Amino acid sequence: MKHFLDINSTDPADLRTILDEANRIKSGRIGQKRGVADDEQVLAGHMVALIFEKPSTRTRVSFDVGVRQMGGETMVLSGSEMQLGHGETIADTARVLSRYVDMIMIRTFEEGVLHELAEFADVPVINGLTNRSHPCQIMADVMTYEEHRGPIKGKKVVWCGDGNNVCASFLHAAGQFGFDMVFTGPPTLDPEQVFIDEARAKGVNVTIDRDAANAVQDADLVVTDTWISMHDSQSARERRHNQLRPYQVTEALMANAKPDALFMHCLPAHREEEATSAVMDGPGSVIFDEAENRLHAQKAIMRWCLGL
Ligand code: CP
Ligand code: NVA
Repeated sequence: MKHFLDINSTDPADLRTILDEANRIKSGRIGQKRGVADDEQVLAGHMVALIFEKPSTRTRVSFDVGVRQMGGETMVLSGSEMQLGHGETIADTARVLSRYVDMIMIRTFEEGVLHELAEFADVPVINGLTNRSHPCQIMADVMTYEEHRGPIKGKKVVWCGDGNNVCASFLHAAGQFGFDMVFTGPPTLDPEQVFIDEARAKGVNVTIDRDAANAVQDADLVVTDTWISMHDSQSARERRHNQLRPYQVTEALMANAKPDALFMHCLPAHREEEATSAVMDGPGSVIFDEAENRLHAQKAIMRWCLGL
């Protein structure tokens, strides 16, 4: 039994196996919205619990659809409606759920909750986003980059804006897949040093450049995300907007990157804030491919977790 908790805690060979499988699954599908008919029914008889302590569109729908396409069933649970939100320990919740379901996906706040769930569950646990990471998203993003431009190894990825949970998983991926990263954003919103150090220890270049135009020079991929994440206080909204405005991804900024540079955003986006619509809907944007690939990547992650 394997958990999928983070990209940096998953063996690089396993990450590659998952992406190969995701590509196989994607290419084998006959139509985007086809039901179960064109998929292998490897999850037949399996029940998957999808726990959400934060809102979600993509994660919720892509996991739900993915499980169903593989013949399984899902149970979508909101954290606040469970005893989890009313004092029952995570460990007891993990032990109980393990008696009912075959796999658990959880979106939560503190990553300690994810780790405790994984420690005490007898079934695989998948990280569907915590305050510190979002590994399923970045597996889909690496898949997306490679299907458009070939191997990501050795490429230059530039993160613009808030050094948040999605940025952290990109840094994890930099170390595991071997690409260089530049972070450009205000000093108060730098990614945690531990993520930078870990990537560097694996031999990739990670740099910080406060000048966005300079940072994106020769970039193969430019990425951004919302300026205020779900776990951030709305009271800091105005200050964060003022700090982050110089890092907005515009067509002028993208003009500094390589001519064939891609643009990514995990969504949901706040158009005209972290990125302009001209970029989001522009020729280098692959934002909806990223969203689609969540489905394929997560089906491969679930199969890997269950050894199917
Ligand atoms: N990108 C992503 O995880 O989106 P949701 O919050 O809609 O799940
Ligand atoms: N950084 C964002 C990602 C949402 C998918 C958040 O945590 O709200």
